[in-house]
Amino acid sequence: MTPTRFDLNAPEVIADPYPHYAWLREHAPVYHDRDLGLWVLSRHDDVATALRDSDRFSSDTGGPWSDLSANPFNPSMKVAAPVARAARRLPAPRVLLTSDPPDHTMLRRKVSRAFTPRRIASWEPRIRQITERLLSQMTARGGRVDLVRDLASPLPTTVIAEMMGVPPERQDRFRRWSDKAIDGLLTNGSLRSTLHGTAAMSAYFAAAVRKRRRNPRDDLISLLVTDGDEAPLSAGELVTFCILLLVAGNETTTNLISNTMLALMDNPRAMEMLQADPGLAGAAVEETLRYDGPGQGLLRLTKADVTFGDVTIPAGHRVLPLIASANRDPRRHPDPDAFRLDRGRTDHLAFGTGIHFCIGHALARLESTVAIESLARLGLTPRPAGTPERINSPVLRGLRTLPLTLT
Ligand code: HEM
Repeated sequence: MTPTRFDLNAPEVIADPYPHYAWLREHAPVYHDRDLGLWVLSRHDDVATALRDSDRFSSDTGGPWSDLSANPFNPSMKVAAPVARAARRLPAPRVLLTSDPPDHTMLRRKVSRAFTPRRIASWEPRIRQITERLLSQMTARGGRVDLVRDLASPLPTTVIAEMMGVPPERQDRFRRWSDKAIDGLLTNGSLRSTLHGTAAMSAYFAAAVRKRRRNPRDDLISLLVTDGDEAPLSAGELVTFCILLLVAGNETTTNLISNTMLALMDNPRAMEMLQADPGLAGAAVEETLRYDGPGQGLLRLTKADVTFGDVTIPAGHRVLPLIASANRDPRRHPDPDAFRLDRGRTDHLAFGTGIHFCIGHALARLESTVAIESLARLGLTPRPAGTPERINSPVLRGLRTLPLTLT
């Protein structure tokens, strides 16, 4: 198949974007999608430039409510003009992910102490316990399982909920809220479900913040409310950050675990190597981040005219640096379409780069490695048991279901 143009939302692109990215890198590395009002970057060097140059590429794309009727990741979403106008008037607290310096510098300094390598590493025994419990429930069900439902989805949700001090009986609701919030923004879900999920999470976290201010405990929300700073985060900023953690961390980690399993099943030699040495789980996760990572692209807004080669992107335009295409760029990664466990750490961009580099990368790597390693240690062979159902999104790459037999 030889594509002639690139349509981010076309079903065949969502099903397998990689040949389309290869076409872009070769024929239109700075591609202008006039319908979506979006400039698409696909080569490693250009993508890295856009992410590292926060002076010219702003992350402040206006927030999720800024232009609801022109969401490039869900163009079918229909929003009546009065609703879009009302949404633009909603209070908009500063959000780490979509802010620029100096706000970003201040927010990042405050929240990063909750994600130090030592703090994350201290969670390893608990992550192993939760994984063991999920695996024993899964194997007790018999041979046929759904890896997403039984392991990849509940593991990160349970871990982040425990970190935030959410009681176990509320944790299922958590998953549903964060699923709903993502649904309309990044997949083909409705605005109604996004607003519903976000409102439910906001109400929950607003109450949790009030409680922790009165009675701090040993959890992440308490750490954030008691930062001892002269200019503490406002209640709105705290609530928004809690929501960001759920939205940015759950679905992505779920997808990393299931994408890793899918890549291993598609590459029997790699699967055999892992079964023989479960210590290779970290290498499998790292290679999946490069080869088929959970995030395909990010959004930026040009603050000045920017020239790549002979193409100039004017100021004030939206740019989509395709990190998943950068990760398959043969100029950077030899034999990029091969899934190999012996690459070692590459400079893939699955967690971004520059000032917005993922704050949860160590947690995501730890959870995914423990999940894949513990599965391999079961000594059972996973085999496909039906067609996996893919998430319908141009930017989130992952599975809704991954039916398997373990024999
Ligand atoms: C930022 C990917 C897991 C929290 C980012 C960015 C990427 C990314 C690409 C940069 C966004 C940008 O430059 O615009 C991933 C992937 C994950 C993952 C692939 C899993 C495999 C997590 C987890 C958490 C988390 C587990 C927290 C619990 C965040 C936050 C930011 C971020 C708060 C914003 C950082 C900033 O703007 O300074 N992530 N993430 N992520 N991630 Fe992750």
